[in-house]
Amino acid sequence: MKKKITVIKGDGIGPETIDQALKVLNCISDIYSHSFEYDYALLGGECIEKTGVPITEDTITKAKSSDAVLLGSVGGPKWDSLPANLRPEKGLLTIRKELNLFANLRPALLFPALASACPLKPEIVNDGFDVLVVRELTGGLYFGEHKTIVQNGMKKAIDSLEYSEEEIKRIAIKGFEIARKRKRKVTSVDKANVLDSSRLWRDVVHETAKAYPDVELEDILIDNCTMQLLKCPCRFDVILTENMFGDILSDEASMLTGSIGMLASASINETSLGLYEPSHGSAPDIAGQNIANPIATILSAAMMLRYSLNMQKEADAIESAVRLVIDNLYRTVDIITDGCKKVTCSEMGDKIIEALKI
Ligand code: IPM
Ligand code: MN
Repeated sequence: MKKKITVIKGDGIGPETIDQALKVLNCISDIYSHSFEYDYALLGGECIEKTGVPITEDTITKAKSSDAVLLGSVGGPKWDSLPANLRPEKGLLTIRKELNLFANLRPALLFPALASACPLKPEIVNDGFDVLVVRELTGGLYFGEHKTIVQNGMKKAIDSLEYSEEEIKRIAIKGFEIARKRKRKVTSVDKANVLDSSRLWRDVVHETAKAYPDVELEDILIDNCTMQLLKCPCRFDVILTENMFGDILSDEASMLTGSIGMLASASINETSLGLYEPSHGSAPDIAGQNIANPIATILSAAMMLRYSLNMQKEADAIESAVRLVIDNLYRTVDIITDGCKKVTCSEMGDKIIEALKI
């Protein structure tokens, strides 16, 4: 099959982890006789340096005309003092909105061989866990009105949190549909004891649940959820939540897997076009040293094959190769423990390719 992929290397460790993902994709195209055409585009800090803005029409056009978008990571201290609409993150938010990527899937599962890298006590994670955070990605606080006004000589900042029934309904449907292919349990996270938007969230989720009688639904408040994730991650299957709560919960869940360097992500809409990026940031402190963990980006490429390119066995092959390399005790610095073999970012890519060829 011939597929066109828009590749955005991004900032910090983005280029080095993307290089490993491309190596893996090239290996897949050799083994399975596909042809992947990479169309490079700019977004984030690199885009600011080259064009003055964090995203251009060119990037949006390329993304819209491709089969999928693979993104490294964006941002860095260099651009921290820029106004909000010129920061690298604005590029990311714009592409999510432009492609209508309202559903963000972030799988956090514990590889048995990585159990010792998990900060929880062994008895808590004995049975492992496999949690999928389904995060609403184009609404809520991120996309409400942001403004800072001056009142009585004092500055006052206002961020609005809005959700419509329609926005909640479509993400809830995604959550239930995905749960049907997993363990059939949805935990809907909100703050319905305080927020109107959460009360609407809860109503709409329950209304949607009526069409999925085979899926168990529970509600949980966000503060309790952060605690339960540490106390008993195995009680969760699909965590369905709004934009900001999902941002926070997915970072927390990632740490349980041993490192945020392991957490992939898919941002999808109702079509097959999606954007795939690691959940971690650009880690400017370790950029350019070839020590970053490329697994989150490589697993994001696997999600891309699965969700956008309809290549299930190819996605399975990448996931199995990653598992084998971990089982064989190869570790980047973020997940290293006693008795394991330390590898660089590019060596990890090489090991995964070797495993693919077995
Ligand atoms: C993420 C990131 C982004 C977000 C930032 C960079 C805007 O933290 O993808 O989780 O909050 O969505
Ligand atoms: Mn985040």
